[in-house]
Amino acid sequence: MDHFLYRNGALYAEDVPVADIAATVGTPFYCYSAATLTRHFKLFQDALSPLPNLVCFAIKSLSNVAVLKLLGNLGAGMDVVSAGEYLRAKAAGVPGDRIVFSGVGKTRAEMRLALEGGIRQFNVESEPEMRALSEVAVSMGVVAPITIRVNPDVDAKTHAKIATGKKENKFGIPISRASEVYAEAARLPGLKVVGIDVHIGSQLTELEPFEMAFTKVAELTRRLRAEGHDITRLDLGGGLGIPYTRGNEAPPLPQQYGALIKRTVGDLGCEIEIEPGRLISGNAGILVSQVIYVKSGEERDFLIVDAAMNDLVRPSMYDAYHDIVPVIEPAPGLETQAYDVVGPICETGDTFAKARPMPPLAAGDLIAFRSAGAYGAVMASEYNSRPLVPEVLVMGDHFAVIRARPSYIEIVNRDTVPEWL
Ligand code: LLP
Repeated sequence: MDHFLYRNGALYAEDVPVADIAATVGTPFYCYSAATLTRHFKLFQDALSPLPNLVCFAIKSLSNVAVLKLLGNLGAGMDVVSAGEYLRAKAAGVPGDRIVFSGVGKTRAEMRLALEGGIRQFNVESEPEMRALSEVAVSMGVVAPITIRVNPDVDAKTHAKIATGKKENKFGIPISRASEVYAEAARLPGLKVVGIDVHIGSQLTELEPFEMAFTKVAELTRRLRAEGHDITRLDLGGGLGIPYTRGNEAPPLPQQYGALIKRTVGDLGCEIEIEPGRLISGNAGILVSQVIYVKSGEERDFLIVDAAMNDLVRPSMYDAYHDIVPVIEPAPGLETQAYDVVGPICETGDTFAKARPMPPLAAGDLIAFRSAGAYGAVMASEYNSRPLVPEVLVMGDHFAVIRARPSYIEIVNRDTVPEWL
């Protein structure tokens, strides 16, 4: 459920007409609903209760500091994968002991930054990284709390580009080698082992792969404890999928995911951490765009809109489906027509949808791409020297621009021409 609904024939973001925001901010822009973000975050907290838990929002899905502040105020932890994300979490006022640091290639500089600023744990992904972290910590006279990410060799049954839990993927250490890697970690002077980490992929629409992975993690917890390790935390990653199409998709709900966690690892007495991104932010955001032209082709009509693949790359990168709805509600029974919805960028990949049935639209009409809150703005670029798409946050009947659209002058002036030219 989200808070982008038609009211009196027009699309609203909570209590604000989307067209009003467009009139103030211009198009394209991302629009997030505070109520939806809040609701989705709380669903996870409730689903894990009464287990001791920390829901760490995966910042990579939506990293605007205002959004992080909203979630941080609700008690969220944060899952970061870079110095930049770590600094965003801190800028949002999230304390270090609620930040977990994931990622396959943490640099020594990133490790130092997090150890200085405070960190709950590093989710270590390889032996060389583990040794480097120990050296950095020793050089600073501190001890780094760690989990080790294990790769359970489970098929997440999701898009190949976002599956991470198979043995051929670059993530984590093979679960079969966990005993020896944990033994080495325990010997390293700069590290304190606190738990186990696992993350098998994103946009999972079934519980079974989670069940297989968490069952393996439970077995591993018992084994590592028997081997003398103090396993007190389990970080179970993110990955729960969302419905992108209305009606005919029903991925498992956080409640069912929580019940599965309780069933598989709930009796171990561990604190449970999860790292959901998409389920919190995905349906909490839309990308609003305006039709520039309707072009009649030989075989089909093109809706040329002012958003492009640089603003929302998911359709061209993962063949992802996003619902596209007009901001003016179509009259009931209005006949649809098939459009190819495309952006203005000079490549065929700049296509959002092919032969999409939509009500008849004309130049100047506003449309909204739904489910665009996760991996939307964060993956945007300035390709074709198009200004980075702005972001707006709505709460109740008010809204604020939480990242402004850069001016063309700012974009051009960012380049420097050497004096010898
Ligand atoms: N934790 C780790 C270690 C991750 O790598 C990810 C996502 C998450 C948590 C959050 O997963 P979520 O709950 O959002 O599924 N750009 C792609 C998705 C990439 C996901 C990468 N890792 C897309 O647009 O579909």
